[in-house]
Amino acid sequence: MITPTLPAGPAGPPEVSVPAPVTAPAALPAAVPGAGQAWWRNAVIYQVYVRSFQDSDGDGIGDLAGVRERLGYLRRLGVDGVWLNPFYVSPQHDHGYDIADHCAVDPVYGDLAEFDALVQECRLLGLKLVVDTVPNHCSSQHPWFRAALAAGPGSPERARFHFADGRGPGGSLPPNNWRAMFGGPAWSRVTESDGRQGQWYLHLFTPEQPDLNWRHPAVAEEFDRVLRFWLDRGVDGFRIDVAAGLFKHPELPDSPDPDADERTRDSVNPLAWNQPEVHAVWRAWRAVCEEYTAKDGRDRLLVGEASVPTPAEQAKYVRPDELHQAFFFHLLHAPWDLDHFRTVIAGALEDIAATGSTVTWVLNNHDQVRTVTRFAGGDPVLGPARAAAAALLMLALPGAAYLYQGEELGLPEVTDLPDELITDPIFHRTRSRVGIRDGCRIPLPWSGGRPPFGFSPEGATAQPWLPQPEHFAAHTAERVLADTGSFWHLYRDALQLRRSLPQFGEAAVRWLESPPGVLAFARGEGFVCAVNFGDGPAPAPVAAAPLLASGPCPPGVLPAATAAWWIHRP
Ligand code: BGC
Repeated sequence: MITPTLPAGPAGPPEVSVPAPVTAPAALPAAVPGAGQAWWRNAVIYQVYVRSFQDSDGDGIGDLAGVRERLGYLRRLGVDGVWLNPFYVSPQHDHGYDIADHCAVDPVYGDLAEFDALVQECRLLGLKLVVDTVPNHCSSQHPWFRAALAAGPGSPERARFHFADGRGPGGSLPPNNWRAMFGGPAWSRVTESDGRQGQWYLHLFTPEQPDLNWRHPAVAEEFDRVLRFWLDRGVDGFRIDVAAGLFKHPELPDSPDPDADERTRDSVNPLAWNQPEVHAVWRAWRAVCEEYTAKDGRDRLLVGEASVPTPAEQAKYVRPDELHQAFFFHLLHAPWDLDHFRTVIAGALEDIAATGSTVTWVLNNHDQVRTVTRFAGGDPVLGPARAAAAALLMLALPGAAYLYQGEELGLPEVTDLPDELITDPIFHRTRSRVGIRDGCRIPLPWSGGRPPFGFSPEGATAQPWLPQPEHFAAHTAERVLADTGSFWHLYRDALQLRRSLPQFGEAAVRWLESPPGVLAFARGEGFVCAVNFGDGPAPAPVAAAPLLASGPCPPGVLPAATAAWWIHRP
């Protein structure tokens, strides 16, 4: 368990009028053992959005063979493993989060033989492989849902979903007032086999993603089979979609704040999310993982997307017999603000680490505006500087970190896609660009000066599935690898230091006194990280030249929008 030294006050570091030189703490906390030293505790995992990573066959869509081609690149970057977004058979209404067959690869991404080859190659390169799993809902094309439609009201086939009669005259109104996360009511009405308008079914996302009824034993049995299928093929773990979902209030009553989910695009309806029954599922899944570990000694990982209101609530998901980890999304939503960063980091260290798990930090993923754009505040120079500083901060913290493909290239969000090219169901259901996700899912630029920038092979027959802007030329892997001042080198150097410095591992964070606008902390013997959130230069907390900095950083000075790491020699 990590025992952080927390700030004395409720939020924000103590502000000192004269910037005090840092006295690196004399007493060193011993490395605190957690639940063993499983690989995932402090791992850096690279998220591959398969569709946009590398197209190997020229159809304009990334695929598993493309991922395999680029594993060497990821090894060079220095990550510990890879998480693949869903590549299963799917009509792609939500790009794979609408699964029609959980145990088969969608032909657009490859096949099981290709998946097996990927597993082998990851093993050879020493990379862990984590796959996505989506237990809250499936595709409306899933055989269970098709059977449910065909079988009619009251059938055992319908019992695996949430079917209900409507309210009002002729049952023409949804069974309750819940709204879907991606817009519109959380219920859709079916046409029964006799052609009449019939029952309604629940979907917390799109109508093409019917929610499964986890109170039905067949659902748990099916997911037990799915987990074992992929574990038998050699995966190291699962990222669990919508891990605070699954169970709904048994009576499906009206919500007191029906628009909350749609308004916040977060799982906040207390009747639809975070029901206590869900924890038994995670205990069962953990037992399956332990069973495999007992057989071959390899630690497996369950990392949950558990969006719940507070870190304290999230901590329940990572109790020792439940999920190993849960994404800590508060940095993903944080503005560029010192107090905000410090408060959420301190909260995470306190609440999550107290469970024996480690915090799972995230700054970017396939659902959010990229940090280069998010932190810019409209300033194209500040955005990259702040994004690089935030990355160096995240990578200095104890716990695991997830990197989203392209953040090591310094990619900005693409915000000017024409309406007709937008594929995100959020846009099509809300007719609003708020929260749409195509802009962070643009196919990666690898090389060359023009689209497809090596994303598709020479002679490809199709354009990339989303257009790459010309300015991606400045961000190709080829370019950033050749530029030692690039994001890529910053990430690579940070990852190397994380692996090799003895201060990393489980050493706790100790907040340091720092000048206004600067967040600073120490870990282990003499490691210091500081970030200048302010608008002007600040005195550096350590006089010596930094070990690594997110931008130009002369000795003794910490420029604005810059983070740096030092080893402080007393
Ligand atoms: C995934 C999204 C997906 C949604 C529905 C999420 O939280 O990250 O990309 O659209 O679940 O499955």
